[in-house]
Amino acid sequence: MRIGILGSGLMGGKLGTIWARAGHKVVFSYARSEQKLKKLGRHGTPREAVLEADAVLLAVHWSRVDDVLKQAGDLSGKTIVSCSLPMNADDTDLVIAHTSSGSEALAKKVPKARVVSAFNTVPSEVLFGVFAARRKARRPSLVYCGDDARSKKIAAELIRDVGFDPIDAGPLRIARYTEPFTLLIAQLAYEGDEGPELAYRFERFGGRKH
Ligand SMILES: NC(=O)c1ccc[n+]([C@@H]2O[C@H](COP(=O)([O-])OP(=O)(O)OC[C@H]3O[C@@H](n4cnc5c(N)ncnc54)[C@H](OP(=O)(O)O)[C@@H]3O)[C@@H](O)[C@H]2O)c1
Repeated sequence: MRIGILGSGLMGGKLGTIWARAGHKVVFSYARSEQKLKKLGRHGTPREAVLEADAVLLAVHWSRVDDVLKQAGDLSGKTIVSCSLPMNADDTDLVIAHTSSGSEALAKKVPKARVVSAFNTVPSEVLFGVFAARRKARRPSLVYCGDDARSKKIAAELIRDVGFDPIDAGPLRIARYTEPFTLLIAQLAYEGDEGPELAYRFERFGGRKH
């Protein structure tokens, strides 16, 4: 798959690196230092990153979303996997929640793109660990949601490539629940004593078999 990374920081830098290792063709973009992009690998402008991409990862701070989208240009028909959370400037609170979500607000900004909300429920610190453990039988879960079946399939593949078990949480509006859930994960990751390398796993007991 050709993957364009918009925002090559903690999330974009790591996820892009992992996908490149998994065999995808990744183009990194949008960092303040050209040097940093160079170190990550193939890179370009946001427009170049999205131009031929089968999937675009949006991984910028909420305050940079409009800017990076403007720089990216036409996103019609593109699958946008967004890990961006609608956080305020000092990252202490969600600025959109309950009656909408960052992912839904994003979909309104780019109505012709197909937005999938994914990867925003885990700390960046756990990503390489999950990738390293991907051949183990019990994978951690990763919830994702979106309104377009084809794009969700692409997202699920990318989730699997990192080493998670993709959990389809339904339509994009379910991001109203997954985004606040991340604040719980962040509390456990960053305020606990055991470090931020935290993932989660949903278990089912009995009940209906698929
Ligand atoms: N970090 C996590 O664990 C985590 C977990 C879940 C969700 N998220 C969400 O994922 C998104 C990305 O988070 P992150 O932690 O990866 O952020 P980050 O490390 O700050 O990365 C953001 C990227 O945007 C670039 N950038 C910022 N301002 C810019 C500007 N004016 N011009 C060009 N590039 C600019 C940064 O450049 P530089 O590299 O030069 O700084 C960096 O590459 C956020 O919405 C966050 O809420 C993060």
